[in-house]
Amino acid sequence: MKKACVIGYPVSHSLSPKLHGFWLKKYGIEGEYSAQEIRPEALADFIKNMAVNGFCGANLTIPHKETVMKLLDELDDTAKAIGAVNLIVVKDGKLSGTNTDAYGFAENIKPHITGKNKAVVLGAGGAARAVIYALNMLGFAEIIITNRTKERAEELLLSYQRMLVSSGNNSLDSCLRGNDNIEVADWQVRGEILKNADLLVNTTSLGMAGKEPLDIDLSELPKTALVTDIVYNPLITPLLAQAQARGNPTVDGLGMLLHQAVPAFAAWFAKELNGRKPEVTQELRDYILAK
Ligand code: ATR
Repeated sequence: MKKACVIGYPVSHSLSPKLHGFWLKKYGIEGEYSAQEIRPEALADFIKNMAVNGFCGANLTIPHKETVMKLLDELDDTAKAIGAVNLIVVKDGKLSGTNTDAYGFAENIKPHITGKNKAVVLGAGGAARAVIYALNMLGFAEIIITNRTKERAEELLLSYQRMLVSSGNNSLDSCLRGNDNIEVADWQVRGEILKNADLLVNTTSLGMAGKEPLDIDLSELPKTALVTDIVYNPLITPLLAQAQARGNPTVDGLGMLLHQAVPAFAAWFAKELNGRKPEVTQELRDYILAK
């Protein structure tokens, strides 16, 4: 029986076992997807033995997404650009790392995008890196990043530039189209930079259950702009509620989690799927949200 898992520390909060379990059952595949609580100091051993222990792959979550990179046989361009791995695929005993968070974010908002001229990204942590990669892939003309700690946003931008120079990779280059379309703005002017924006993305942890809400004045944001949050607990964050109240279209963050899992399941169970593609449906959403 094929085995995959999510590796994290802690990992009990992860919805991935439920998500992949749903598809295993739905597609009648005899497989197993477990949660593996692995301490940082035990990660190298676990990764080294994955293939011999019969794993066909794994997802990575906090705090392993970055540290796992040096433990793998190969990394694709997406993982290098985002600087984090959330998916390992084992093939012929070799471990390949990629990142499907940008894909998940893009797929989640794609049907709802109302324009691609200007996007504003709040936050500059790990999630912001995947979001910015996705916005470039989607072809946004202008991307403005703002973060409480401005240096972190500047560092994020710089690391994209460094990565472009060092990779010399054409496909990556065409994906990222240079960095002249990305700017950094002060956190204090986060309300003002919303003028003429087509998309507003929150990648900060503000608005998450137990954290303070994001404090932002939306009055400059066009009413047609799409507002999305990568936080999905609660599903309707204070930001999304604020946007909905003034008539903006919104997309919640759960879809990103569901969509990022599609390429993982498709890669591990390609043979068993036999041409079928794991789907993100309302049925899946309802199942994940059910207690
Ligand atoms: P992740 O990797 O999930 O994105 P992270 O690296 O901890 O998580 O980043 C969290 C983001 O939320 C950061 O952009 C952080 O801003 P700083 O870089 O200034 O820390 C942002 N954030 C967290 N608490 C915040 C607060 N009270 N006000 C503004 N931004 C906050």
